[in-house]
Amino acid sequence: MSEPLSVLVTGGAGFIGSALCRHLVRSGGYRVINLDKLTYAGNLASLAELEGSPCYRFVRGDIADGGLVGSLLDEERVEIVMHLAAETHVDRSIDGPADFIETNIVGTFRLLNTALAYWRSLDPRRRAGFRFHHVSTDEVFGDLPFDSGIFTEESPYDPSSPYSASKAASDHLVRAWHHTYGLPVVLSNCSNNYGPSIFRKS
Ligand SMILES: NC(=O)c1ccc[n+]([C@@H]2O[C@H](COP(=O)([O-])OP(=O)(O)OC[C@H]3O[C@@H](n4cnc5c(N)ncnc54)[C@H](O)[C@@H]3O)[C@@H](O)[C@H]2O)c1
Repeated sequence: MSEPLSVLVTGGAGFIGSALCRHLVRSGGYRVINLDKLTYAGNLASLAELEGSPCYRFVRGDIADGGLVGSLLDEERVEIVMHLAAETHVDRSIDGPADFIETNIVGTFRLLNTALAYWRSLDPRRRAGFRFHHVSTDEVFGDLPFDSGIFTEESPYDPSSPYSASKAASDHLVRAWHHTYGLPVVLSNCSNNYGPSIFRKS
């Protein structure tokens, strides 16, 4: 039997991240390492079904902690990083932008640097297969009229809130780490997600 693919999910206790962790573990073929700082937005109740699974490990920690992230990447022989950890709510970013700058920009920068050092340490076969997937938002492209228009990958960046500006900055860092250092990256800019909120903290 082949080894499961080792995936480091950051922000896996959040709304989308927890659904991703559940999906990957249920799918089979993956070992998921969930690194989450457990801010107000993280909720381990959403991951209760994964507790005790040999294909799942939760680690409480910060994406900016290079020592912790580096040892997780080495220890778990990670092949894919899926980076979802972020400060995420537009209104909160208006009231207090500092955490958004710290996590979304500085945190992503530190995570990229740690991932780059790890990627460089891999043998050529594993280096070729490694991916750093940065999960961003379509809000980096600005606002659309209520009932028309679409964004595409060619849409110009036009962020309008501290949240979207911090995500735009992180997108540019991810692209720069690819173009400058060759780190294999995937960058996705999804629209608003929705789904069951039964796992949300009240
Ligand atoms: N929810 C949406 O509709 C939507 C739309 C587009 C893009 N996105 C992006 O998807 C990603 C996930 O969104 P979400 O709605 O699940 O967010 P969320 O706020 O529900 O969860 C974010 C998670 O990140 C963790 N976190 C925050 N700072 C951290 C740090 N420094 N180190 C480690 N963990 C940290 C939190 O504890 C939390 O569990 C984000 O990057 C967001 O920008 C979300």
